[in-house]
Amino acid sequence: MSVSSSSTTATARLLPGKPVAERILSEVAEGVAALRAAGVTPSLATVLVGDDDASAGYIRIKQRQAAELGFASPHVHLPASASQADLHAVLEEFNADAGVHGVLVQHPIPGHLDYDRALQVLDPDKDVDGMHPVNMGRLALGLPGPLPCTPAGIEALLAYHGVPVAGREVVVLGRGATLGRPLAMLLAQKRETANAAVTVVHTGVADWPRYTRRAEILVAAAGVPGIVRPEHVRPGAVVVGGGVRYEGRRLLPDVDESCAQVAGAITPRVGGVGPTTVAMLFRNALRVAQGGLPGS
Ligand SMILES: NC(=O)c1ccc[n+]([C@@H]2O[C@H](COP(=O)([O-])OP(=O)(O)OC[C@H]3O[C@@H](n4cnc5c(N)ncnc54)[C@H](OP(=O)(O)O)[C@@H]3O)[C@@H](O)[C@H]2O)c1
Repeated sequence: MSVSSSSTTATARLLPGKPVAERILSEVAEGVAALRAAGVTPSLATVLVGDDDASAGYIRIKQRQAAELGFASPHVHLPASASQADLHAVLEEFNADAGVHGVLVQHPIPGHLDYDRALQVLDPDKDVDGMHPVNMGRLALGLPGPLPCTPAGIEALLAYHGVPVAGREVVVLGRGATLGRPLAMLLAQKRETANAAVTVVHTGVADWPRYTRRAEILVAAAGVPGIVRPEHVRPGAVVVGGGVRYEGRRLLPDVDESCAQVAGAITPRVGGVGPTTVAMLFRNALRVAQGGLPGS
């Protein structure tokens, strides 16, 4: 559906993540089949610490997806009382196991543990989340490496839906390490599906709506429910909702629903960026198993 920005009843074209994820995962499945035919079973290991229900649920989703794609998915569940050394020992074992291609530590981990320290123990080439400092450095330098999943998923989502990015003005609201910062680096890279003029705004830019209002593509990456409202959106712009907060099982997105009345295209409240993030995780793991660095 197209948009007439002057109409209050106008509704933006939706940019769902599911078909994007399906396409990526079907390519991954082909790659897995070829590897298995050559005698290699790709393997994505998961580590869960503690008994958080939501985290256990996310692990189950990833294991189900792994099984569907033909990945092995070794799993270690440490008790909530596990020490930092216990966690490091698990990661070191996976690092040393040539049959394990990717490792994911489910976030969040119990408060007495340091996630960033654990991440640094992980072999950067097995860091399928793309969050290891070495991989952030590779991203900054444009070197091959596992790309952070949510930013890479957003680039793929825009490309799939035919949203031109190259040469356009992208504004990212939020400079967090998971989303805003790596996304800004990614979309500024010299590539057909990126190559944008990227501006990043945050709490240090009190008048951030001045920037978002001129964005041709606006990405919300703040984690503040409802922070992006119609008056912050340039009429006809593309709006991508990345930031979310959970209250229990309730998902509260950064982008207020009413933005659909102003935007030209917008990710849906549910099923936008999320599915593409999971697909990128498996794409990263496959590329390690194929023997190339994931970003190559
Ligand atoms: N959909 C998915 O699959 C997916 C995956 C990963 C992450 N996420 C979501 O993405 C969001 C961002 O995560 P993150 O770890 O990258 O970031 P983060 O560390 O939570 O940081 C949030 C960023 O937003 C900015 N911000 C917060 N409130 C603001 C305000 N009132 N005005 C302007 N800027 C504001 C902060 O500015 P300062 O730097 O100045 O504090 C910071 O840069 C979270 O909601 C997370 O849940 C979603």
